[in-house]
Amino acid sequence: MPSAAPPDLSLGALILAAGKGTRMYSDKPKVLQTLLEEPMLRYVRNAAISLCPQTTWTIIGHAADCIRKSFPLEERFILQEPQRGTGHALRTAMPFLLQAGLSHILVVNGDTPLIRPKILRAFLDVCLAEDADLAFISLTPDDPAAYGRVVRSESMVAAIVEAGDYDETLHGPMPGEINAGIYYLRLAAVGPLLSSLTDGNSGREFYLTDLVHLAVFARLNVLGHNLGNVPELLGINTPRELLRSEEMLRESIINRHLDAGALIRSPGAVRIGPDVLVEAGASICGPTEIYGRAIIRRGAHIASHCRLTDSVVGEGAAVHSFSFLQEAEVGPSCVVGPYARLRPGAVLEEKAHVGNFVEVKNSRLGKGVKANHLAYLGDSDIGDGANIGAGAITCNYDGRHKYRTVIGPGAFIGSNSSLVAPVSIGEGSAVGAGSVIIKEVPDASLAIARGRQRNIPRNGKIGGPSGRR
Ligand code: UD1
Ligand code: CA
Repeated sequence: MPSAAPPDLSLGALILAAGKGTRMYSDKPKVLQTLLEEPMLRYVRNAAISLCPQTTWTIIGHAADCIRKSFPLEERFILQEPQRGTGHALRTAMPFLLQAGLSHILVVNGDTPLIRPKILRAFLDVCLAEDADLAFISLTPDDPAAYGRVVRSESMVAAIVEAGDYDETLHGPMPGEINAGIYYLRLAAVGPLLSSLTDGNSGREFYLTDLVHLAVFARLNVLGHNLGNVPELLGINTPRELLRSEEMLRESIINRHLDAGALIRSPGAVRIGPDVLVEAGASICGPTEIYGRAIIRRGAHIASHCRLTDSVVGEGAAVHSFSFLQEAEVGPSCVVGPYARLRPGAVLEEKAHVGNFVEVKNSRLGKGVKANHLAYLGDSDIGDGANIGAGAITCNYDGRHKYRTVIGPGAFIGSNSSLVAPVSIGEGSAVGAGSVIIKEVPDASLAIARGRQRNIPRNGKIGGPSGRR
């Protein structure tokens, strides 16, 4: 809580996320559109929750079920049905906010994902210092586009007028100052004005922004806090605006990692999600994408054209080009790829190698295991030092159920063999190339399960005039 906070201040936050986002031309609700694979709404919520951990509410309406599913642990959702504008959203939320005993709230549009706690905190400090009843952040961007315009009279805020409703004969020349969609409200002062909102505007909606002229008229203390040209704070309404914000975020994340000692080559083509941890001394070459809760340890190298999600790459490990990792764990000094696919539950222990066109799923590969070419390893447990030949396959699925394959330490699985699970191969055993193994192979044995080779004379033309060799 800021130092200027009065002792009776009970602050909450309200995120407006009920709108459809028509201008995105997508079936997905706008606030679930992603920046670096994380939904827009998540960023706004994180910022609000960092100031109001127990008192952040989110108003939802359009595709409410989808949004609830994306945030399964959240309980503080308020349903706005139907969605009749931002003022109507606030009106819908009011009983919940009052019941929670809040005296003041921050309202943040759900389509402003690059809002940071630091900015909210500084804004709050100004509001408290000025003892504002209603305040909002305003910007002066290069292109004021379709954002709501701030009308001032002798520097004092008079109103916010939506671009579509702006009438120069009424309001004077169109100003370049816009409303960022981030507000501070003293509920006891602003609450009584809500019933005066009307939908007599071009959008036939109840605008939250109309509270501004109502508050000015009621002689409340209204503050438009101008932050100048801050592109990060522009709301997202169109695909182009989404990409603009995503690119700003991407660049700031890359710079953060570079400053912290990661070596990122072709940085303009590297996309790293906000929760990814890249240790100092790790190196990454673009184009590459790393998302979710991935961790890249020091000395690890991720080559170009890789995509990693929620995966850990251990110290000194190398992930070569065109590899695809999802919920996988790559131990220290492992080598992965090129062209490897590690699916959820793939665990590679120290110095294991997984080479080209090898797919691993829900399997543990012990220390130093080598599967260097063309293999499928699913639902398996492979002991230290085992060698998996080219084209070896664990047949883990019988069409109904999945079964496990256990391969003992030091075992050697010959090329093109099929291990039909459930099955186990003993420690130090070998499987002859091309075998189909359907029952247990004990320790230190050689299993060969394939048709014996027969060489049959042909009466055909090969092998000389007689056809015989
Ligand atoms: C709004 C502001 C505008 C400001 C701009 C900043 C209004 C009337 N206008 O315009 O002054 O410059 O943001 O980006 O507020 N929403 C609801 N319920 C609804 C309608 C909308 O929760 O019934 C939510 C939306 O999901 C969105 C936010 O409110 O997250 C803003 O709505 P949007 O329609 O994007 O408003 P803008 O036209 O961008
Ligand atoms: Ca908007």
